Amino acid sequence: MKNNRSALTKLFLAAAPIALVVGIAFSFSPNVSMAKVTTVTSESPLADGGSDYATYCARCHGNDGRGQTAKGRQTHAGDLTKSTVSDTKGVRMITNGSGEMPAFKSSMNAEQIRGVMAYIHGFRR
Ligand code: HEC
Repeated sequence: MKNNRSALTKLFLAAAPIALVVGIAFSFSPNVSMAKVTTVTSESPLADGGSDYATYCARCHGNDGRGQTAKGRQTHAGDLTKSTVSDTKGVRMITNGSGEMPAFKSSMNAEQIRGVMAYIHGFRR
């Protein structure tokens, strides 16, 4: 009987650190999801650029920016991942169009165009 109890005590002592670790992990998990929410919120201007990109640009430049869509090949849209165009020139091209690329000043305001320009910068990394 005495032996049995000490075996149980040993089991408890062995289990306690594990329970502690699991407990800590669980108590941290709400913080992790809070951090995710904060990140999404702070990236929302870029996310907006991303949705405008999907709406207006991806049919030629592709979701990955490489311009390998049927329309992108047909118009020679080029590869935005290799683009070196400045923000000023890029914004001007998006606003007023360039060659086979249409103008977007009637579909997006200046802020949206800057957002899309910021978004396509992400392709260059
Ligand atoms: C109808 C197809 C088409 C659509 C839609 C389109 N583009 Fe283009 N894009 C082109 C073509 C073609 C060029 C090359 C134009 C040139 O060389 O004058 C180009 C060039 C560019 C360039 C310059 C790349 C470089 O380095 O020279 C940028 C930046 C760009 N597009 C961004 C966008 C954005 C942002 C959108 C969406 C708002 C968009 N494009 C929509 C066809 C398109």
